[in-house]
Amino acid sequence: MSTTEMSSTEEILGRSDANDLDAILAVPNPYLEGTIHTVKDHADAIFTWDYEKGARPALNKLYEKAKNAQWNGETDLDWSIDVDQEELAKSAVTNSPINSQLDLSGTCFEKWNDDDWARLNVEMQNWTLSQFMHGEQGALLCTAKIVETVPWIDAKYYAATQVMDEARHVEVFAKYLDEKLSGHYPMNTHLGLLLDDIILDSRWDMTYLGMQIMVEGLALAAFGFIHMMTTEPLLKQMLRYVMSDEARHVAFGVLSLKEYYAELTDVELRERQEFAFEAAVRMRDRLLQQEVWERVGVPVKEAIQLTKMTPESEIFNQMLFSKIVPNCKKLGLLDASGGWLRQRFGEIGVIQFEDWVDTGEEYESFALGQDLQAG
Ligand SMILES: [Fe+2]
Ligand SMILES: [Fe+2]
Repeated sequence: MSTTEMSSTEEILGRSDANDLDAILAVPNPYLEGTIHTVKDHADAIFTWDYEKGARPALNKLYEKAKNAQWNGETDLDWSIDVDQEELAKSAVTNSPINSQLDLSGTCFEKWNDDDWARLNVEMQNWTLSQFMHGEQGALLCTAKIVETVPWIDAKYYAATQVMDEARHVEVFAKYLDEKLSGHYPMNTHLGLLLDDIILDSRWDMTYLGMQIMVEGLALAAFGFIHMMTTEPLLKQMLRYVMSDEARHVAFGVLSLKEYYAELTDVELRERQEFAFEAAVRMRDRLLQQEVWERVGVPVKEAIQLTKMTPESEIFNQMLFSKIVPNCKKLGLLDASGGWLRQRFGEIGVIQFEDWVDTGEEYESFALGQDLQAG
């Protein structure tokens, strides 16, 4: 394989240094105007005349599970629970990466009082749930595309159940935001660019890799973390229900791609590695939460640099990759092409998760009624 076929970081990310904060913050947000956003999906809709159900037993099993695991966001969640967002924001549970416990003298937070910190927490909560809602809509569109583009009947059947799951997820996050929180945020630039790139790609496996492996792998870890930390009973219940579905979705990606990637050439695998790396960096960039800092009126770059100095925040951001990295390993993506992705994941500080449990079978333990293991 010649190096001329490989893409540079500049070509993959639009900047030569993955960690260039000025370049990350300078990317314009194309999602601020209008009610709809259109993306070309460049894909053929595929019929198959091979209707043999269960030709892929692992996918068939997942499909049968999914049929019995449907829930109703309107009636299975207790929407009568009153959420006092301000009270919640003042409590010990906070998703703010920096807070008044640190020595912030000489920084833009020097004069902040308890009300300012409480407001920051409220905004972070609105932002976080808004991005989950947008990401869920991305999953809805991606999975509908998979129904059309995947050539296997067992995968079409399973993907159809995931379309319903994702509709329900968009619905419950939107309802929670509207009825229990205090305002939406628009789509984050980096999350939106990633979702656009996933949908734009003509190759059916790239939808899976971008959505089921990368976006949903991160979501499963993030939901698990927030589910464990939050004291708000409705959010806890809602995340528990959503996670029972998400674990199946990530398994769907692992089980489908494992078969397909076993047959790809090294050059083809390298393209998948580059796509996985791009997705990882875009998701890391989205976690900078730049829109929140803008809204609370502090210098964005300074706030982000202070965030990076907090060990808790670094640990949290790394933990979000605890599902993605073992799943990439299981698919053979870490070590193909001379270990290219292993090296990149090392550079962004997440390779240490490679031997954690992958999500090919783990979904059974996420089923409703099971006690979730911590972590
Ligand atoms: Fe979802
Ligand atoms: Fe999902």
